[in-house]
Amino acid sequence: MEDPSSANPLGEPADESGLSRRKFLVLGTATAAAVASSFAARRLPAETPVAPLAAPTTETPWMAKLSLRVNGATHALELDTRTTLLDALREHLRLTGSKKGCDHGQCGACTVMVNGERINSCLTLALMHQGDEITTIEGLGTPQKMHPMQAAFVKCDGFQCGYCTPGQICSAVATLREIKAGIPSHVTEDLSAPAKLTTLELRERMSGNICRCGAYSNIVEAITEAAGAKDQA
Ligand code: FES
Ligand code: FES
Repeated sequence: MEDPSSANPLGEPADESGLSRRKFLVLGTATAAAVASSFAARRLPAETPVAPLAAPTTETPWMAKLSLRVNGATHALELDTRTTLLDALREHLRLTGSKKGCDHGQCGACTVMVNGERINSCLTLALMHQGDEITTIEGLGTPQKMHPMQAAFVKCDGFQCGYCTPGQICSAVATLREIKAGIPSHVTEDLSAPAKLTTLELRERMSGNICRCGAYSNIVEAITEAAGAKDQA
């Protein structure tokens, strides 16, 4: 039988294929270099022309005629089709009660009700709401004749700077409707029974409305007061 060490001059043992470890490393390095050079050869030459980016253009807005029902009144408008409901309310109808906090659906300051359900008006286009009944804070009540939720916020000090308050109140009114309609939340324990008006339920349901003044405890107290219910926790 042939001595494996005689297969190479360095006397390294060879494996069954007859390759020594040193030869294997040399071969591997050469293969890697060949692969790398073949990729390099495929690279685009430096002078390859690149299509220039299209020059920015001043787009002509697409305008649309629409009518919006807001707080019981019909308004005829002609708007850029990209106008959000929030901008239509604030900038075109001068209903500035709904506030623009983040304009990204994260703070709830722009909350209004559409057909009785709360939505973030910064996240929806005005054009999508023809025929809907839109209610803003101005439509809930007036300083002389407040909605019970507005009165409860005043009574319980449910605000400090007041910036989030219109959205909080619209959201709170819709929250009580959701509870009354038996719509469960993430923290409702018993889905077969009516949801209880607990602090936990209210905090969860109102979690989309941020208050930078931190009036949360008073807001929960105000909603409980407006519902005419003591905390059932
Ligand atoms: S402004 Fe709409 S959620 Fe913040
Ligand atoms: S009262 Fe100031 S942000 Fe809520």
